[in-house]
Amino acid sequence: MNNHKKAIDKANTYIEEKIKEKQERTFQPSYHFTAPVGWLNDPNGLIQHKGIYHLFYQFHPYSEDWGPMHWGHATSKDLVHWEHQPVALAPSEDYELGKAGEGYGCFSGSAVTNNDQLVLFYTGHIDSKNPKEVQCMATTEDGIHFEKPAINPIIPNPPETLSADFRDPKVWAYDGVWYMVVGTSEEGHGGAALFQSKDLMDWQYCGLAAKSDGTLGDMWECPDLFPIQHKHALVVSPMNMNGGKNIMMVGDMDYKLHRFTKDYFVEVDEGFDFYAAQTFLDEKGRRILFAWMDQWETEFPTKKEGWAGAMTVPRVVSLNDEGEVRFQPVEELQLLRKGKEQHKHVELTHSFTPETSGQSLELKVNFDLSNTNSEGIGLHVLKSEDGKEYTEIKYDTSSGEVLVDLNRAGQISGIASAKIKECDELSLHIYVDRCSVEVFINDGEKVITNRVYPDNRSNRIELFADNTVNVSDLQIWSLEK
Ligand code: FRU
Repeated sequence: MNNHKKAIDKANTYIEEKIKEKQERTFQPSYHFTAPVGWLNDPNGLIQHKGIYHLFYQFHPYSEDWGPMHWGHATSKDLVHWEHQPVALAPSEDYELGKAGEGYGCFSGSAVTNNDQLVLFYTGHIDSKNPKEVQCMATTEDGIHFEKPAINPIIPNPPETLSADFRDPKVWAYDGVWYMVVGTSEEGHGGAALFQSKDLMDWQYCGLAAKSDGTLGDMWECPDLFPIQHKHALVVSPMNMNGGKNIMMVGDMDYKLHRFTKDYFVEVDEGFDFYAAQTFLDEKGRRILFAWMDQWETEFPTKKEGWAGAMTVPRVVSLNDEGEVRFQPVEELQLLRKGKEQHKHVELTHSFTPETSGQSLELKVNFDLSNTNSEGIGLHVLKSEDGKEYTEIKYDTSSGEVLVDLNRAGQISGIASAKIKECDELSLHIYVDRCSVEVFINDGEKVITNRVYPDNRSNRIELFADNTVNVSDLQIWSLEK
């Protein structure tokens, strides 16, 4: 048996045994993706291959902490119901195997379909003190069991001018040529190194497709360069960027000059818990994005229950007629809707309490702002019976910001905010799931995603306004898998 197969078998056996222990997860979300055991971070290898959606992810099965990185794997027919699959990649070769206690493993990457075959690309990482990062591939016959070809690493060194930070390959095809961007840093500025290939094995360096001007971080993790309508976009997770965590640059890609030029950039999500976003094009032609619904510098209260990490709901990324980026939840999430409560044209004075309660919910609320005398308008979710615990989602009419206030949400604190364009009607589309709240504002103009850790009885909803406001439409669904 080869080393990879041994490492995979060991991980799968461990996971099977661990699941049998049935450790209670009081914070387990009902419809967000989580690993069966242990630690999860970035989404990897997102693809729809022969009709089936594949979600791979950075995975440390052996504990609730980040550790030697494996690739977990799950598949779905509808982006909503996921089936866990055996571990896809486990560290087993010298280019990804380090000493105990040191960071090493199969780091983030992507997937493509080549001649009907699924192929994975990832970074082999060793030696966290003196990091060595190389690009590798893995192949499969059945889409479940993966092999590492002897030609690995396919890119054995970073090009000379780049730093040793050289990871997270994202591969795509354009006009019959394969391209790969790899996250890196040049002279202290984040960059996306571009490679091209005819056969996915032999890669030529084409220079940096884009680089920070000094304001967009000193290292770009998880770059993702893709066509979007008549433009191109470059999504990166910049390290040490002032005021940015995961940005999407919109601009043009010149495949002859190998350069991406940005017109502007947006924050992919304005919440605290959002990182390492990756996209893929599905068979319906949608550009779909998942991200890790956490971040590195944060508390993980779920570690007490033996697990950490969740994915966001999948979101469709598009440009509207004005060329502005929009992020919207995929329509398949409607499959989760159970009961529905609806109210139209409610004259809200101070507060309104709907009948529905729950910790896994979808809410659509439209506030008519044209003649309100309130400064603060919004709602509380995950609210306790005594009213002391809640997550507050508030629109401040004077500043034009949506604020998600976590200071009473349980175990964490902070206020996330997003400034929105002036509008007569505010629409909030909210997904609540036990330990997370995702708020899509005005059809995906802005999104705010946060983890929260309330008591498991805090399940109430309450709409509020300082004075009065007309709620033109309120829809609430309980969500269940
Ligand atoms: C981003 C990241 C990647 C790396 C992976 C390691 O969250 O730091 O750059 O490949 O996580 O787990």
